Amino acid sequence: MPAAMLPYACVLVLLGARTAEAAGMAGAGHLRWEPRCQQPLPNRAPVTALLPPRLDGPWISTGCEVRPGPEFLTRSYTFYPNRLFRAYQFYYRDPSCREPAHSLLIKGRVRLRRASWVTRGATEADYHLYKVGVVFHSRRALLDVAGRLDHSKVSRDCAHRLPPAWAWLPGALYELLGAGAERDCAAALGFTMHELSLVRVQRRLQPEPRAAPRLVEELYLGDIHTDRAERRHYRPTGYQRPLQSALHHAHPCPACSLIARSDEHHPPVLPPQVALPLRLGGRWVSPGCEVRPAVLFLTRLFTFHGHNRSWEGYYHHFSDPTCRQPTFTVYAAGCYTKGTPSAKVRGGTELVFQVTRARITPMDRVTTAMLNFSEPSSCGGPGAWALGAERDITATNGCLPLGIRLPHVEYELFRMERDPLGQSLLFIGQRPTDGSSPDTPEKRPTSYQAPLVLCDSVAWGFSPQHGAQLQTPVRGGTPCPHVAPLPILLLVLRPALLQWL
Ligand SMILES: *[C@@H]1O[C@H](CO)[C@@H](O)[C@H](O)[C@H]1NC(C)=O
Ligand SMILES: *[C@@H]1O[C@H](CO)[C@@H](O)[C@H](O)[C@H]1NC(C)=O
Repeated sequence: MPAAMLPYACVLVLLGARTAEAAGMAGAGHLRWEPRCQQPLPNRAPVTALLPPRLDGPWISTGCEVRPGPEFLTRSYTFYPNRLFRAYQFYYRDPSCREPAHSLLIKGRVRLRRASWVTRGATEADYHLYKVGVVFHSRRALLDVAGRLDHSKVSRDCAHRLPPAWAWLPGALYELLGAGAERDCAAALGFTMHELSLVRVQRRLQPEPRAAPRLVEELYLGDIHTDRAERRHYRPTGYQRPLQSALHHAHPCPACSLIARSDEHHPPVLPPQVALPLRLGGRWVSPGCEVRPAVLFLTRLFTFHGHNRSWEGYYHHFSDPTCRQPTFTVYAAGCYTKGTPSAKVRGGTELVFQVTRARITPMDRVTTAMLNFSEPSSCGGPGAWALGAERDITATNGCLPLGIRLPHVEYELFRMERDPLGQSLLFIGQRPTDGSSPDTPEKRPTSYQAPLVLCDSVAWGFSPQHGAQLQTPVRGGTPCPHVAPLPILLLVLRPALLQWL
């Protein structure tokens, strides 16, 4: 986007930033975080990965999950010592997982192969499916699923495996794949279990008030491609939100026992959730090391200034799955628009973000050398990079070797939730799996990344009740413009980075 198209006030922000940098503000890390906004969060115990992973036992979702589409679901998977598994996927019409639509029963075998070369810390696995059956909980759910079949020959054959709407029997299980099904109709309906081809098991101790710490085991399975058409071919390189052991899960977890006792005929109906209005004001931090497809390990730290609708964020990148070996840090800042409820993803809020300023700090030798050798017209202009020293890249419109282009607009999807401990969680839209960025409304996410945790809500003296929310600019301060599509980056790293590192 050429600078001339930028909303006027954001150009001012941009110029203002340059002046501030020139005045020597760069490098000092001028935001000072409260201890509880540090990473890792002080109340998080270190995690240990189990290598090779032990899959045996029952694993469950800890809440309602959102997959690209959107699809709302809960999962309950059981792995047996003889490598067989039985998996339930319960699909819903609503984002609180209270109105079951259909349930899948999936049986097969999984075999762990080797440590992944692509995703450090993960194990690759092969799987084979014996049976996939579907139970529809309403006639409408049957029509929705049948509507996914296209006009191909396979689809026409598979259409016969599903009953016509008038002949639907509540409680009947229809086989999509199995001994009696000559075709894989699960695949024709876009169903795969490729998530089983990338596995990681982690253990951590959850501190308990007035009691011994509790063991929590998490099972990370491969991510789901954001483009439905790609799902059948995509081999995961990142993870979904983890399942937890039904025997060792975090507490409290009102959904856990409901999901653990369910089967295809009795899908779990999760407890009602209080809808939280989106109040971004404050600082939000990753509770742990995040893994992105195309293999990036990072932690994020954002500040949203509700009164002038501006934001700033730190993306700390690492080369290892425990986020201990830093590679570089990106600081980015800009403005965002007022949120509007999403029609496509119920429960979500649509926003537009713009990134107008960015700075980079190389944190290892390889990245420092790479930046040192970048074109003088990119990455902040001529001048040497040094390990640990921050440089502004706004004036050169970003830094192409790292895939950062400025100014940059992103169409976003946000949602807030409160977890059972009362912490506020912020879900930000999942990045397109192909490494592109959601820079058009059509590419706006329909699912979410791992949530950030609110670590300081009363930032800058604006309490959430008095203006530190989206729609309420207050007097004073320089508000970000109210013009239509505006400001962010929630990470614009492209495969360019991978070729370098
Ligand atoms: C970066 O470039 C400067 C000057 O060209 C040089 O002194 C320095 O050693 C280089 N650093 C690295 C890590 O390549
Ligand atoms: C918004 O307000 C915060 C704190 O009050 C300030 O640091 C920031 O620079 C402001 N942003 C803009 C674009 O005015």
